[in-house]
Amino acid sequence: PYPFYEEMRSINPIYKSTLLKYQGWYITGYEETLKVLKDSRFHSRPPIPAFSRNYENIRRIQENMMLFTTPQHHRRLRSLVTKFFTPNIVNECRPFIEETVDELIDQVSCRGTMEVVSDYAFPLASSVIAKILGVPVKDYSLFKEWTATFIQSIDFTRSPKTLGNSRKATEEIIAYFKKIIREREQEPKEDLISKLIQEKQREEKLSYDELIATCVLLLIAGHETTVNLISSSIFLLIQNPRQLEKLQDDPELITTAIEEFLRFESPAQLIARTASEDIIINEAVIRKGEQVYLFLGAANRDSRKFRNSHQLEITRNPNPHLAFGHSRHFCLGSSLARLEAKIAIERLLQNVQNLQAVDGNGHYRKIIGFKSLV
Ligand code: HEM
Repeated sequence: PYPFYEEMRSINPIYKSTLLKYQGWYITGYEETLKVLKDSRFHSRPPIPAFSRNYENIRRIQENMMLFTTPQHHRRLRSLVTKFFTPNIVNECRPFIEETVDELIDQVSCRGTMEVVSDYAFPLASSVIAKILGVPVKDYSLFKEWTATFIQSIDFTRSPKTLGNSRKATEEIIAYFKKIIREREQEPKEDLISKLIQEKQREEKLSYDELIATCVLLLIAGHETTVNLISSSIFLLIQNPRQLEKLQDDPELITTAIEEFLRFESPAQLIARTASEDIIINEAVIRKGEQVYLFLGAANRDSRKFRNSHQLEITRNPNPHLAFGHSRHFCLGSSLARLEAKIAIERLLQNVQNLQAVDGNGHYRKIIGFKSLV
């Protein structure tokens, strides 16, 4: 269990926090989270009081990201990109994902142990999104740094110092994508950036700023969350040997197992909204401009919605978790994330006997290794 979430929810699933740095509404209940996600009067755009001309580049990128745009802008932008992420199109990545997973397992097999995040989940998620976008995989150490720094500009509690770092990272990401876009304009390839350039050229459907912002969003959104999903799934299986056995006995259970991993250790624990007008949810009066923090990880453990909510049950079905959000901003990459996690876990179980944590000390973000990789 997550004691903090449980305590918040038991006081009130819509709890008003007056903590100076984190003022706003903490939503830890499932139904309450769903109500906010379905209500278009809650905007996903982070407030930008501190943005002066110095932060113009961050503002422009954020304004043109579908995750933060106005509803009309969002609809157009999402419809241009969504066709490249349907389950059928995503399935075309299957051979590449399988090949990458096999190579990663090969690289550690003689060692007998692996560090799950850096040897497996991270290089897999980076390679896949880099391949789809059409950027060199070898640049993924750069992406890692940029992603981490850029994300801080979205953090509602960011300080001027973090904004300064984000500005620098943003400049670098923009320069990086501008160069790739120029190259693809001259010589198109079979990658997503080339396809998006075609959208841009076709009746100016996509502006230059939108194109860059979309590349940055895909790079960021498709990365850390997928790393979290793959690594937590492996750790959960190690921690729950009976569930692991069940999955080994019946590999078909992988589909419901992935949904349960998503519910149980939600890879994106927290998303946020801002009220665009005064809104009443249950008895709470949320004033215009107030922040609402949606603890997806808490909603997904709400015992009023999920039976045995703190128990991992890989056969759980139905499993209406909110790990990918809901409604307008529902995760665009959900099919891709599910496919990557499915292949990563299936192949690992096929190749590893006696899956164990070598160095696990009870905290899932700590290094995990395996014995007896054969
Ligand atoms: C949106 C979770 C993987 C692309 C979201 C949202 C969540 C989420 C919770 C909604 C955010 C909000 O409403 O504020 C996850 C999780 C993933 C994952 C848990 C992996 C396990 C991916 C991947 C991609 C991706 C692989 C892309 C290739 C996006 C995009 C949005 C989004 C573009 C914004 C959609 C919109 O605003 O319409 N994701 N995501 N995500 N995700 Fe994912």
